[in-house]
Amino acid sequence: MESTRKAIRVFDAFPKVPPSDTVGSYRGSYSTFVTYFFMVFLIWVQIGGYIDGYIDHQYSVDEIVRNTLDLNIDIVIAMPCKYLDANVRDVSEDLYLAEEILNFEGVNLPNAFWNMAKSKKSTITPDIDNVLSNSLEADFVAKGQRHNLELPSCRIFGSIPINRLEGDFHITAEGYGYRRPQVTPEELLNFTHFINEFSFGKFYPYIENSLDGTVQKTSNGRHTYHYNLKVVPTIYGKLGHEIDTNQYSVRMYETDNKYSPGIFIQYDFDPIKMSIIEQRLSFFQFVIKLVTIIGGLWVMASWLYRFMEKIIILTFGKEFARRGEEKKSGLLDDPIEEYESI
Ligand SMILES: *[C@@H]1O[C@H](CO)[C@@H](O)[C@H](O)[C@H]1NC(C)=O
Repeated sequence: MESTRKAIRVFDAFPKVPPSDTVGSYRGSYSTFVTYFFMVFLIWVQIGGYIDGYIDHQYSVDEIVRNTLDLNIDIVIAMPCKYLDANVRDVSEDLYLAEEILNFEGVNLPNAFWNMAKSKKSTITPDIDNVLSNSLEADFVAKGQRHNLELPSCRIFGSIPINRLEGDFHITAEGYGYRRPQVTPEELLNFTHFINEFSFGKFYPYIENSLDGTVQKTSNGRHTYHYNLKVVPTIYGKLGHEIDTNQYSVRMYETDNKYSPGIFIQYDFDPIKMSIIEQRLSFFQFVIKLVTIIGGLWVMASWLYRFMEKIIILTFGKEFARRGEEKKSGLLDDPIEEYESI
């Protein structure tokens, strides 16, 4: 046992000072204490980061060939359903028969309803936990239903499968825009509207989109609303769970149009995909990171300590610098003699 220890000592590359020859100082112990404190703090922060993971935002070219997706709509217009048309058209010139899929339901709304909702919202990128906790998928069960078409307001809702191409969804009045046998009475034209849901892709009713919950009011019957949406596919991921959504930015302008008043929502898809993924270090990576940080901290601390000692010696002199040291000599020793001997 003793012989192996001796053998190991031979290989010891670090020169050691016997403990009896070292001199402790108050400054030294303070700085050791501060270093320990700092180290515990850093470890604490790192462990917290390791447990929580970190959010990685990335943009990339959307490499998945996506052909069709759903356009989810839930919108209320201050006009009777019986005079409204809803259509989708895109650059492939497909005219979707949105009317056959969408549901039209007449509703009687108090005037206060139109004063409740706010009109402007900014584009938001909801955060990952918000999205995941609200990612309850749903479907509009009804298709192509018609109810109470005479009532003063109309709720139009449903999911229309569309091409992933530039296109537009529009709501117009009969006799204005498309040729129809009946023409909407002038005094009933009113494109005041409330958008409850307007989203692309799978229908997650609880995830907020830029247009959700917005209202637009007009006192002019022949008023036209133009929306311009740029859609960005967005993928949220956490703990192996992935949600494929689409967010969009909105630009909007209004005109007082004589011939075809209505609501025109134009959309286009970006070739870029955004991924918001929560990442985690592996335990091994975490340990390596921790060791690197602690090692670096020790080196830094010892440099700093030596630097400080030098400064103290330079500004206050050697004697001042030694004041904090413990006396290791016996009572009878003459301290002055000791200073001189070193
Ligand atoms: C449309 O309806 C809203 C809400 O009832 C009302 O405030 C607005 O003045 C109406 N506009 C027209 C042109 O009648």
